[in-house]
Amino acid sequence: MRILVIGGGAREHALCHALSRDIAVSELHCAPGNAGIAELADCHPVDPLDGQAVATLALRLGAELVVVGPEAPLVAGVADAVRAAGVAAFGPGAEAARLEGSKAFAKDVMAAAGVPTARAHVCATPAEADAALAEFGPPYVVKDDGLAAGKGVVVTEDLAVATAHARSCERVVIEEFLDGPEVSLFAVTDGETVLPLTPAQDFKRAFDADQGPNTGGMGAYSPLPWADRKLTDEVLRTVLQPTVDELRRRGTPFSGLLYAGLALTRRGVRVVEFNARFGDPETQVVLARLETPLAGLLRAAAVGELAGHPPLRWSEGSAVTVVVAADGYPAAPRAGDPIEGLEAIRAEDGPGAYVLHAGTRRDEAGRVVSAGGRVLSVTAIGADLTEARERAYRAVGRIELAGSHHRTDIAARAASDQSPTIE
Ligand code: AMP
Ligand code: GLY
Repeated sequence: MRILVIGGGAREHALCHALSRDIAVSELHCAPGNAGIAELADCHPVDPLDGQAVATLALRLGAELVVVGPEAPLVAGVADAVRAAGVAAFGPGAEAARLEGSKAFAKDVMAAAGVPTARAHVCATPAEADAALAEFGPPYVVKDDGLAAGKGVVVTEDLAVATAHARSCERVVIEEFLDGPEVSLFAVTDGETVLPLTPAQDFKRAFDADQGPNTGGMGAYSPLPWADRKLTDEVLRTVLQPTVDELRRRGTPFSGLLYAGLALTRRGVRVVEFNARFGDPETQVVLARLETPLAGLLRAAAVGELAGHPPLRWSEGSAVTVVVAADGYPAAPRAGDPIEGLEAIRAEDGPGAYVLHAGTRRDEAGRVVSAGGRVLSVTAIGADLTEARERAYRAVGRIELAGSHHRTDIAARAASDQSPTIE
């Protein structure tokens, strides 16, 4: 199978890593890719937001499957453009991707489908926002309605901060605060059949002990020793399947990857958010444990044949990923610094630990340099979380990048006392 992956972050590197190990894959291409992906796939300098350009590239390459990775191209309709050109695409069309692109839309779908989530008001005026803040009280949860690259949500005890964020958004969703540990559960779907993947947990705060600002995610692990098969079955029944059924009923079926961000509250499971794509960094650990060949799974979802797909197989072992972030991330990340140690990891750590690139590129001299806030993530597998952590952190210790920082406590609590990390 000839496959074209769209995007160039750690998620796409993780996808390419898994696809390159699938014997069904004869050719792997990526647009635009990054310095790490370039070692696994032919990279093409095509704008991932330009549906026509992506479709033209897919046709020129004779791609049999296009996997659209990030949310921005999905919301821009890139999967629609590929399908219109007659090529199978993994990823929802623009209408269904609004599940991530508009928080108000997601709330509307959840209400129609009876999916448990935080009570919320969609506010278009300052007066409406003030009334909603007063109704729910602190801690305040204020969300920009549109795509905001992880920066649109403010959770605060401070009414002035909450009000200021609400004023800065055109349309804002204000909702009840959900407490309890967060779990990410991904599902692959063809718009009808839903296959849940294995749960994972990510760490959103920049620094150890959940201190510092929110980020896109500083690390992740899987499996969750404290969340079992029962949770997955419940979320499939109460969240994933009803959401997929509702979007099909509306005539805009969702195919691709449905990501449910969940809070396990005292009153039960609640949806915090939906995303329309694989999450980063959870994808790194979920795919590290997937034993089912990935290409066949993604293709079955793209062509509507998931009902006939065999059950997914998972390794018994554990996976941990640790993000190495640039100096200044998340506020003002510095770019252009050389990254050393990548060869040493390859030579010393074997296949059980590997680097997935996010914000990297090769400079004129051919050196790999930083080019984004989250620069790379080191992913490791082991017999249990303790071994996976040791391997991941040993490899992280070999990375040299001026001013970089990483969390030292990814999966630490889960490895030691099996209890959830409360974010
Ligand atoms: P979102 O972009 O909706 O995922 O929000 C980003 C992060 O903000 C989530 O992962 C949570 O940690 C936090 N968050 C969002 N909604 C809520 C809520 N209703 N209650 C508590 N925390 C929330
Ligand atoms: N890990 C959070 C996200 O991908 O949005």
